Amino acid sequence: MDKLVIEGGVPLHGEVKISGAKNAALPLMASALLAQGSHRFHNVPRLRDIRTMQILLKNMGAASEHDKVMEIDASRIGSPEAPYDLVKTMRASVLVLGPLVAKYGHARVSLPGGCAIGARPINLHLKGLEQMGADIALDHGYVIARARRLRGARITFDQVTVTGTENLMMAACLADGTTTLKNAAREPEVCALADYLCAMGARIEGAGTPTVTVTGVDELRPSSCTVIPDRIEAGTYLAAAGITGGSLRLTGCRPDHLEAVIQKLIEAGMSIRAEGDVIEAAANGRINSVNVKTQPFPAFPTDMQAQFMALMTLGSGVSLISEKIFENRFMHVLELRRLGADIDLDGRTAVVRGVKHLSGAPVMATDLRASASLVLGGLAAKGVTEVTRIYHLDRGYECIEKKLSAVGARIARVKE
Ligand code: EPZ
Repeated sequence: MDKLVIEGGVPLHGEVKISGAKNAALPLMASALLAQGSHRFHNVPRLRDIRTMQILLKNMGAASEHDKVMEIDASRIGSPEAPYDLVKTMRASVLVLGPLVAKYGHARVSLPGGCAIGARPINLHLKGLEQMGADIALDHGYVIARARRLRGARITFDQVTVTGTENLMMAACLADGTTTLKNAAREPEVCALADYLCAMGARIEGAGTPTVTVTGVDELRPSSCTVIPDRIEAGTYLAAAGITGGSLRLTGCRPDHLEAVIQKLIEAGMSIRAEGDVIEAAANGRINSVNVKTQPFPAFPTDMQAQFMALMTLGSGVSLISEKIFENRFMHVLELRRLGADIDLDGRTAVVRGVKHLSGAPVMATDLRASASLVLGGLAAKGVTEVTRIYHLDRGYECIEKKLSAVGARIARVKE
């Protein structure tokens, strides 16, 4: 396994090109199952999760090539199945469920099981498919879903679910009749998926609002699109500028996807200017301690909670960080403490008391965004920080050590 070795204390300065969004690319790849033929996706990031989705699709018979463009040919789907050994490494595999049932009338998808940040059930996905007429059975850890043809339904989500909205939106495209999804997720990745489904011939209205309406059609045709920029990667680099006392210019961004994060970073004392697809961010001396509560888009995203907490460890006072989406997304707290952070946990709220500086130490990544927060801590800490188990990081950050080195970080990937 690899680890990252970071010599901290260096302010970052320079330009970072933001990659395509993992959480936009994954549902787009799954949507290729809805239409036979060749789908082409531009700006797909080179990440571990993307490769996992490629393997999953290949296992079903959908070949894919990922050169400058990703091309997926879903003309010959054999076994509509997502096996446990793949699903357990990437929960987003569940996104093939809706398309397979809608297009092929049956699917056998492993239950994802728990993960580091929470139980993360898929009951809302399954309940929605049942409301659309699918027979759902659980068998030896697998979901067996069958439907001659899904029918439109009025579905209200008990709570906002991003992949639940995406799964049912895809399933509804080929259903008989109209489906209404209420309390739907409004994330940019959901809107990007809806745009692509419409390019394939689907009839969808209201994506990006709490109520999405899908009028089923008989067939979809393959198309192409460009993956939107990764708002969480961008937010992570903005936090890197803040925590190191530097200034970064991010290009290839969508600032409108990042407004809640930008607002909180400005409250934390940073200077941030957004124009077109560029965000310029600079630290301004001491960091203000501000409170954050994670909520669905357009509010502050849970995927930025760990990175923002790293910044708050150097705050001027006390920051209360409430994690309202996942029940166990504070695994990074124990590791940040090893870097000298002063953090107490009170249920789903972290009390972060700012310290003068962090000190380098060996730390261990536990999940994707926790590993990003440890890298940020290491960039600011005096001395050397080693981050192990960075396969978590490789799931969602393209060439992170190259991008950071290019703006002055003293960081290297070494074989453990
Ligand atoms: C998506 O996960 C993202 N993953 C996550 O990003 C992100 O943290 C999350 O949305 C929240 O924004 C992808 O898009 C691939 P949810 P998802 O369904 O869809 C509960 C990353 O770092 N819930 O919106 O799995 C669930 O337990 C990853 O890139 C149910 O109870 O999240 C959670 O508490 C991590 N039953 C809440 O809803 C369900 O059927 C929100 O989960 C579905 C969800």
